[in-house]
Amino acid sequence: MSKLFQPIQIGNMEVKNRFVRSATHDWLGNPDGSISPQQVELYEKLAANDVGLIITAHAYIEHPRGKASLNQNGIYDDNFISGYQKLAKTVHKYGSKLVVQISHAGSLTTLEFTEGETPLNLNNMTNQEIEKIIEAYVQAANRAKLAGCDGVQLHLAHGYFLSRFISPDTNKRQDQWGGSRENRVRIVGEIIKRIQALVGVDFPILVKLNSTGGFEGTGAISLEDVVYTAQALEDLGVCAIEVSGGVGGEKKNSLSRTGVLSPEQEAYFAENAQEIKKAVSIPVILVGGLRSRLIIEKILDEGIANMISMSRPFVREPDLVRKLKESQDKVTCISCNKCRVFTGIKCFYKD
Ligand SMILES: Cc1cc2nc3c(=O)[nH]c(=O)nc-3n(C[C@H](O)[C@H](O)[C@H](O)COP(=O)(O)O)c2cc1C
Repeated sequence: MSKLFQPIQIGNMEVKNRFVRSATHDWLGNPDGSISPQQVELYEKLAANDVGLIITAHAYIEHPRGKASLNQNGIYDDNFISGYQKLAKTVHKYGSKLVVQISHAGSLTTLEFTEGETPLNLNNMTNQEIEKIIEAYVQAANRAKLAGCDGVQLHLAHGYFLSRFISPDTNKRQDQWGGSRENRVRIVGEIIKRIQALVGVDFPILVKLNSTGGFEGTGAISLEDVVYTAQALEDLGVCAIEVSGGVGGEKKNSLSRTGVLSPEQEAYFAENAQEIKKAVSIPVILVGGLRSRLIIEKILDEGIANMISMSRPFVREPDLVRKLKESQDKVTCISCNKCRVFTGIKCFYKD
């Protein structure tokens, strides 16, 4: 039987199949950052159609500097708990799991979203400021737990705050938060330890990790560094690693590549995931251009990853898991990226 429809354990969370809806900002949040009825509807469609694990859009942990996008969801205040409660309840009705992606924009934002405040530059921050942000992550995780969500995913990818700490290309600090790879991952370790201390070690902490810097110029993160980070995260108690890469806003759009139309173009971070998988024993989730049954079965069968994660295909086909289970052998998404619509995510491709 295909592994795709077999359950899997992520920490103490059991997921009913190997499908993950990767974190996807949808521009559908209420202007105040709370969860809107359209979002509940969208998540209900995914859960009702058997997506085993749904990861929310990146929710920002500090206002206003943590915000990266228009109508982005926030999780920086207890007022946001009730919205996540609704989402969790809805998703749980169908036996799916809900994990909240928590994030801080860092320097990858604009004055429009930070309400005129200077975006955070990790290289200028005092210890006290770093402490404040660590605490904001911890409180955000606690809110996700209070809302009844099944876990959190720390966003360590795409050029947002924590991924910039990890990359030697962007972290130029010369204190305990920068320099060696041990130092560059220290902030993530602090966040994890303090989340565990507050909410308990049973609450699953997942990460989405950059396996390519995507940054221009020399000094971008090496795969050896990435594997080191993955092992360090496992040692800290992280339950699963989603392997991604690239930086938001890049011209080449290395994180959501366009025109993934043939098997050779699919699964563009698979080689990196394989190296990580060899080095850790927690589940590895692969994201990035997974489009055909042929390739996704191969990824699982060859042990390149334990779960497969998709973003854009679910925008077009929220019922994709069911279709793949029945007879369809590939997604109909053409990876054109036109679904990035500021008035609300939507597929525009007509075939
Ligand atoms: C509209 C849109 C919004 C996204 N929002 C997020 C996000 O909030 N957090 C995140 O980690 N990745 C985000 N991504 C990246 C996707 O999760 C995924 O890593 C990437 O698109 C590659 O997967 P795909 O080929 O299946 O789309 C977004 C991508 C798209 C297209």
